[in-house]
Amino acid sequence: MITGANSGLGLQIASVLAQRGATVVLACRSEQRAQDAAAAIGEKTGSRTIETLQVDLGSLDSVRTAADVLARRHARIDLLINNAGIATPPFAVSAEGVESQMAVNHLGHFVWTALLLGSLLKAPGSRVVGISSLAYHVAHDIPDDWRGGAANYQPFLAYARSKLAILLFTRALQLRLDRAGASTIAVAAHPGGARTDLIRSPMGGMKPSLAKSLLQFQSAEKGALPALRAALDPQAKGGEFFAPGGPMQLWGLPVRVRMPGRAGSPNLQDKLWRMSEQAANLQFPL
Ligand SMILES: NC(=O)c1ccc[n+]([C@@H]2O[C@H](COP(=O)([O-])OP(=O)(O)OC[C@H]3O[C@@H](n4cnc5c(N)ncnc54)[C@H](OP(=O)(O)O)[C@@H]3O)[C@@H](O)[C@H]2O)c1
Repeated sequence: MITGANSGLGLQIASVLAQRGATVVLACRSEQRAQDAAAAIGEKTGSRTIETLQVDLGSLDSVRTAADVLARRHARIDLLINNAGIATPPFAVSAEGVESQMAVNHLGHFVWTALLLGSLLKAPGSRVVGISSLAYHVAHDIPDDWRGGAANYQPFLAYARSKLAILLFTRALQLRLDRAGASTIAVAAHPGGARTDLIRSPMGGMKPSLAKSLLQFQSAEKGALPALRAALDPQAKGGEFFAPGGPMQLWGLPVRVRMPGRAGSPNLQDKLWRMSEQAANLQFPL
């Protein structure tokens, strides 16, 4: 089960999983783009077990509806890859009024994972994979106000914080899974820099074309490898983090890397968890 599977890294991850015989669900914002991706993956891999599901992670109503549909279709889920993301868009808020990057990159996936947890727990050794970014280096906290405002909006900082939130969520979820004695694990990955359509708007005064050139370090196929290792490495343990092994983790084959210390901060984890539950009006079932 992979979000944002119609382009970039998600498309590559889904393709490899389909090639290896998995039943893959492509959860995408646009049903049409999901179907186009399913057809392309089917043609490339010969897989006949690719499904599509419409979900807009920027709307918690949409997340709830999609989770219901999925739970009716599949009793258990082995792999939940929370890949969809947006980077440095102009200021906008989600249906619930949360700044769009925190909403799509973190909050939508927080609720998605909460609603699908029952199906994950039914599959022994199942995994939740969060996709972060090197941008987490810039973020040292979680904003106190998730609504924010256009006037003090810093697009790259907001992206970086949403990507730190993914690491905090991974570690906090793993603690709860451990306490519950579950065999499901939560792991994270980041792709370094990979050629995809991620940058769609100016970033910090840079034109999209220039900002995009900063992500040219490797192909989307290579950029997908850390997520695939996090998803499939039989030696992976809960709370681990995978990234390219080359200089500054920008490219190269995937290796296990150190989680930043602040991802283990109980204060930051508690703050993220509390604010996520409040923003979503939901109690996480762990
Ligand atoms: N490429 C890199 O160098 C890089 C570096 C660090 C981290 N990442 C992370 O890697 C992940 C994948 O990004 P990518 O590089 O593959 O970029 P991408 O090609 O733009 O893929 C992003 C995917 O997320 C989907 N998405 C966006 N908003 C959504 C929403 N509201 N609901 C559901 N799906 C939504 C997009 O769907 P649409 O096509 O409908 O917009 C698209 O399928 C992201 O989490 C990104 O932050 C990428």
